Amino acid sequence: MSDVQTIGILGGGQLGRMLSVAASRLGLRCHIFEPGAAPAGDVAWRVTTAPYEDEAALRAFAESVDVITYEFENVPTTTLDLLESIRPIRPNRRALAVSQDRLTEKTFLNDIGLATAPFADVPAETDLDAAVARIGRPSILKTRRMGYDGKGQVRIGGGPAEWTGAPSVLEGFVDFSAEISVIIARGADGQVAAFDPGLNVHEGGILRTTTVPCGLPGKITTDAVLIAARIANALDYVGVMGVELFVTPQGLIVNEIAPRVHNSGHWTQAGCAVDQFEQHVRAVAGLPLGDGKRHADVVMENLIGDDLDRVPDLLKSPKTQVHLYGKGTPRPGRKMGHVNRITG
Ligand SMILES: Nc1ncnc2c1ncn2[C@@H]1O[C@H](COP(=O)(O)OP(=O)(O)O)[C@@H](O)[C@H]1O
Ligand SMILES: [Mg+2]
Repeated sequence: MSDVQTIGILGGGQLGRMLSVAASRLGLRCHIFEPGAAPAGDVAWRVTTAPYEDEAALRAFAESVDVITYEFENVPTTTLDLLESIRPIRPNRRALAVSQDRLTEKTFLNDIGLATAPFADVPAETDLDAAVARIGRPSILKTRRMGYDGKGQVRIGGGPAEWTGAPSVLEGFVDFSAEISVIIARGADGQVAAFDPGLNVHEGGILRTTTVPCGLPGKITTDAVLIAARIANALDYVGVMGVELFVTPQGLIVNEIAPRVHNSGHWTQAGCAVDQFEQHVRAVAGLPLGDGKRHADVVMENLIGDDLDRVPDLLKSPKTQVHLYGKGTPRPGRKMGHVNRITG
């Protein structure tokens, strides 16, 4: 066994909640640090509610844990500097820096030989016209930082280009035939274990379903796993990472990377002996990784907003796992839970 007994998690949303449950199954404790409401706090050993600028709270948090991880990649740099002077952060700072900023991320991906959508830096609104002239239409303007679930994005079609309000990147629109993702784990010894790529369907920028197997030829799924492994190695990554890819006739294009457990990996709870949450806990705690092998076909569906009304029926459905996040009031576009249906 490893020396790690307590894991600190930055961010207290549903990902932190499911990480805490997985850690507790292995006899480990989790301490959540979250400035806002923390559904993870309900199932964790401790929760600290404080802003990321509260040095005393950060210090006490770090000193109470053996290793620090995160379920949320937009933690301020100064917070990380302080925490890292006390305990190790896994995945490392480079993985965070690269994935916090879409411009840095795309540049990094191209530098290691991977394809992305064509992109242009758009520091200010006055740079937008030149960027559109270069990248063309249709295209998508995305804030460099803090975007999630399609937030901070503006589609640019035939009409006048709207501004996001913050430094952005303009991406050429990729005419993909499918969206897939690879959830991969890498241990401190450099070993990797990938889960089968899942087929993702988004609605309004939010993930709706993930289906495994994804139904694509082995050459594509193998390529996808190799791409994810290359990214993990290049970052000297420790933990679970999500890699979103577009499938196109010209090959795979990397959309974005998430340095954490990922919504499109929730199916592993019903499809694998060791799911993505336990896998992440094992990696950051220095324990051997599970093999990632899939033993069932699964469709994961997010329960968003009023989908919560379907829960009584879903609970009666055979071969269906219902996961609820304990978030209180549903709002449109808010992820309230998910279901994993075993389909084969
Ligand atoms: N360049 C693009 N071309 C076509 N569709 C895109 C492009 N970028 C994003 N999308 C669509 O929007 C969704 C959300 O965008 P993404 O960059 O993954 O942001 P988020 O961080 O919100 O997940 C993608 O899953 C995809 O469906
Ligand atoms: Mg995405």
